[in-house]
Amino acid sequence: MTIVTGGAHGIGGATVRRLARRGDIVVLNDIDPDGAEATRAEVERAGGRCEVVVGDIVEREVADRLVERALRVAGRIDVLVNNVGDFRPASKDFVRSTPEQWQRLYELNLRHVLDVSHAVLPHMIEQSSGYIVNISTVEAFRGIPGHAAYSAFNAGVSAFTKSLAVEVARHGIRVNAIAPDLADSQQTPAAAMLRGKDEARIPTWVPVGRFGHVDEYARVIEFLTTDGASYLTGHTIPVDGGTLAASGWYARVDGKGWTNFPQHT
Ligand SMILES: NC(=O)c1ccc[n+]([C@@H]2O[C@H](COP(=O)([O-])OP(=O)(O)OC[C@H]3O[C@@H](n4cnc5c(N)ncnc54)[C@H](O)[C@@H]3O)[C@@H](O)[C@H]2O)c1
Repeated sequence: MTIVTGGAHGIGGATVRRLARRGDIVVLNDIDPDGAEATRAEVERAGGRCEVVVGDIVEREVADRLVERALRVAGRIDVLVNNVGDFRPASKDFVRSTPEQWQRLYELNLRHVLDVSHAVLPHMIEQSSGYIVNISTVEAFRGIPGHAAYSAFNAGVSAFTKSLAVEVARHGIRVNAIAPDLADSQQTPAAAMLRGKDEARIPTWVPVGRFGHVDEYARVIEFLTTDGASYLTGHTIPVDGGTLAASGWYARVDGKGWTNFPQHT
């Protein structure tokens, strides 16, 4: 039995579809009732089982409703995917950002990860098993000007992942995270990432030469919730087409090797 927050669209939606396909009963939370219903219907048409808990995950009572529903439909909780996160509300730079924005970014990126984990863990501890997968970002490890608060809270997600993993390993629970970059999703559509630039330039930017499909992130999440990852806990796995490894290195536009010097032509 699996809980996915933000499971209507994007990486969360792909995770719901993938884990339901392998046979998990999924309880999907989302703030978008129509999107959640569409994903639920799609899963059920494909022969899977999915239930929806609509609500804003920053409200603690949503975490409680998720647990209550999971226990009602399956009597246990095997997997929790803390997927909700957003770089917005954004501002041009840190100096122009406001405490209200920091508070919202904190709630959207870090606070609910603690809340939902806190609500779910007593049941996993009682079962002596469970997987938690948190969604961080490459920007927890690489600086991103204009998004200092967002990156700080996601670094918090990765630090939480490490410490919690150490704490609950003795109960048979593994806690990991993924750090996405460049997913073509509702939050970061390919067109917005390109901002009018030439698509042919993507291979000079992303080592694997393209943006990520949401299912490519879901596949890693799935792996982290299998026996294949039985000795893996406390880590954040970048799923980024190589951007974090490249860290400022780009293929040259003329095709002659690589450069870490910005090229504008
Ligand atoms: N897209 C990327 O390249 C990228 C990069 C780094 C990190 N991430 C992280 O990956 C995760 C998923 O990103 P995505 O691109 O699939 O996002 P998305 O915006 O495309 O999808 C997010 C889903 O969560 C739902 N949602 C949003 N706010 C919610 C709330 N308060 N309560 C409940 N549901 C809510 C949305 O309705 C949607 O279904 C996020 O944590 C994001 O920060 C994404």
